[in-house]
Amino acid sequence: MQNFYLTTPIYYVNDQPHLGHAYTTILADVLARYHRAIGDDVFFLTGTDEHGLKVQQAAEARGKTEQEHTDEFVKRFQDLWDRLYISNDDFIRTTQPRHKKVVQHLLQLLHDKGELYVDSYEGLYSVSEERFVTEKEAESGDFKQIERIKEKNWFFKMSSYQERLIDHIHANPQFIQPESRRNEVLGFLRQPLKDLCISRPKSRLKWGIEIPFATEYVTYVWFDALTNYISAIGFSKDEEQFNHWWPANYHLIGKDILTTHAVYWPTMLMAAGIELPQTIYAHGWWMMGKNKMSKSSGNAIKPLDLMDHVGIDPVRYYLMREMVLGSDAVFTPEHFMRRYNADLANDLGNLTNRISKFIWRHFDGRVPPTNPPGDATAQEDLKRFAADVVKRVPQQIYAMKLHEAIESAMQLVRKVNVYLEICQPWKQIKEDPVQAGNTMYQAAEGLRIAAQLLAPVMPSRTDNIRAMIGGAGVDITYLEWGGILPGTRILEPESPFPRLDKLQLEPVSAEKSKTASNGVPTTFEAFEKVDLRVVEIVAAERLHNADSLLRLTVALGDSERQVIAGIAKDYTPESLVGKKVILVANLEVATIRGAASEGMILAVDNDGTFVLATADDPRMKPGSPVG
Ligand code: MSP
Repeated sequence: MQNFYLTTPIYYVNDQPHLGHAYTTILADVLARYHRAIGDDVFFLTGTDEHGLKVQQAAEARGKTEQEHTDEFVKRFQDLWDRLYISNDDFIRTTQPRHKKVVQHLLQLLHDKGELYVDSYEGLYSVSEERFVTEKEAESGDFKQIERIKEKNWFFKMSSYQERLIDHIHANPQFIQPESRRNEVLGFLRQPLKDLCISRPKSRLKWGIEIPFATEYVTYVWFDALTNYISAIGFSKDEEQFNHWWPANYHLIGKDILTTHAVYWPTMLMAAGIELPQTIYAHGWWMMGKNKMSKSSGNAIKPLDLMDHVGIDPVRYYLMREMVLGSDAVFTPEHFMRRYNADLANDLGNLTNRISKFIWRHFDGRVPPTNPPGDATAQEDLKRFAADVVKRVPQQIYAMKLHEAIESAMQLVRKVNVYLEICQPWKQIKEDPVQAGNTMYQAAEGLRIAAQLLAPVMPSRTDNIRAMIGGAGVDITYLEWGGILPGTRILEPESPFPRLDKLQLEPVSAEKSKTASNGVPTTFEAFEKVDLRVVEIVAAERLHNADSLLRLTVALGDSERQVIAGIAKDYTPESLVGKKVILVANLEVATIRGAASEGMILAVDNDGTFVLATADDPRMKPGSPVG
C-alpha cells in the first residue's frame, strides 16, 4: 500500500466541456479506482482554472461579475463529472480563498528569496493561449491572436534553474513520460531558458490574484493555475496533510500543456524549495480526422451526445481501451460502434447472457453448487488463466498500460467463452445436470473476476453483470477463485450491452449544417429548440485585430448582446446601425478573436457575399420571437 496522489489539469471554466476534457478526467478516475482496488491510499484532484482575460471578457459581455460568471460555468464541469462517475476526492477552483492564499504565499516566498525582479518587457503575446510566445512559436501558426506588448513586469528567475532541471530529468527517467515527451522537453531545454514573466498589470487584466508586494498587478494565470496542485492539499496551511500527499505521483496532462508543466512548474518548485512531482504524464490527443478535437474547431463531439445514446460505461471503456497512452487516437462513430459491438455486445454481453439465462432457466435463478468436474483439465486451465490475469493487471496499471490491462481482462472473458464451448453445458444439462451446474458455476466465477477487473473502467455495468451471475455480494477486491456462494439468487437476465446497429452522432460544424440544408430532414423538435429573435443593431465597429469581423451591439427589447459577425467585407459599420435583423439567441457564448459572441445573425451567403436577413417591418419589434 502506498499513498497515491494524482491530478488532472484544471480546465478553463469558460470552455464547453468536450470529449478531450472528459478523456483526461476519466483516465484519472480509472487510475484512481484501480489504485484504490489495489489497496493504495488515493487522493484524486481535479478542478477549474477560473482567472484570465477570456473569463473577464465573457463575464463583461454577459453583464455579470466574473465571480457570478464562473460560479455558473463551473457547474457544467461538475455536473458532467457527476454523470461520468468521476470519483475525485476534491475539486479545486482557482477563485477559492484557500487557493488564492497559497498563490500569494508562494509569490511572497519567492520574492523574499530574491527569485523575483522587475523589468521592462517587450514581447509577443498570444491572447488565446494567455502567454508570451517566442518568435519561432509565433511563426509556427499554432498560436492565435498574437500582439506585440511592451510593459513593466515582475519576472521569475527561471533561467537560473535550467541546468538543475536538465540534471533532474536525466537523473529521473520517470519524471516526464512517455519518453517521446521527455525528449521533447530536453530538446526545448537545449536553447537558453528565459526568465518567466509572472505578472500582468491590472490595467490590462483585472481578473486574477493580486500580487501581495505589488498590488497594481495580478499574477500570470499559469503561475496561479499550476499552484493548484499544492494549494488543494494544504501547502503552507496544513503541513501534515501536505506531506502526506506531496510529491504527487502523477500530474496527468495532455501534450498541449507540456512546457508549462515540465519546465515552469518544476522550476517554480525548485525556487521555492519544494520537492518535484514524481511523474508528469502527457497523453496524446483525441483527433477527429486530421484535427485535434476542440471547441474552437467546432468538431468537438459533446460526450453527452454519445452518452445519451449508449450510456456512460461504454464510452469510458472505448476511451480507455482505444488510446495507447502517449499516442494520438482518432475518434469516429463507426469505430466506436465496431469496438462496442465486438468487445462489449459480443464478448462480454453475450457471455453474461449465456450464463445468467442458463442459471435462470435450469437452476431456478440460483447459482448451482460446485461439484467435482468431469473434465478437470478445462477447469484447471481456466482457473490458472484467471490467476495469471489477476497478477498481470496491477503490473500493467503501475506501468500505465491501461489498454493492456483492459485487454487482459477481456482475454479472461474470451477464455470463459472458450471454456463453455469445451464443456457444452447445453448438452450436459440433458445427460448430467450436476456437471452442467458445475460448468455454470466455474463460468460465473471467471466472469465475476473479469467484471471486477473491469469495474474501474465500467463501474455501473459491471455491477449489473455481477448481480446477474450471483456475484453482487462478493467483495469487489476479492480476486481469488471461489467467491460466489452457491445458492445465491441472481438478478433476472437482461442484456448489459445491447447491440448497436446505427449511431447518429454528427459533430456540429459548418459543413454539416450545409448537408442539412441540402435535403436531410430535421425534426420539428430540433427546430423548436432554436430561439430566433428580432434584434436591432444599436452599435457597430470593426474588431481591431480582424479585417473580416464586426463587433455588433444588438438590442432585444430590454437587454443588449454583443455579437461578432463576419460581415465587415460586405457592410460598413455605419450602414448597420438601426437595421433590424434576426439573431439565433440561444447559442453558447463563443470567443472569437478574444471577443465574446453571444449569438449569431442570420445572413444569406450569396457566393461569398453575405446579405443580412432583415426584419424591417415596423410590426417586428426587437425581442420578438421568430418561428
Ligand atoms: N487551464 C489549463 C490547464 C491548467 S493546469 C494547471 C488548460 N485547460 S484546458 O481546459 O484547455 O484543458 C486542457 C486539457 O484538456 C489538455 O491538457 C488535455 O488534458 C485535455 N484535452 C483537451 N482537448 C483534448 C483532446 N482533443 N484530446 C485529449 N485531451 C484533450 O489547458
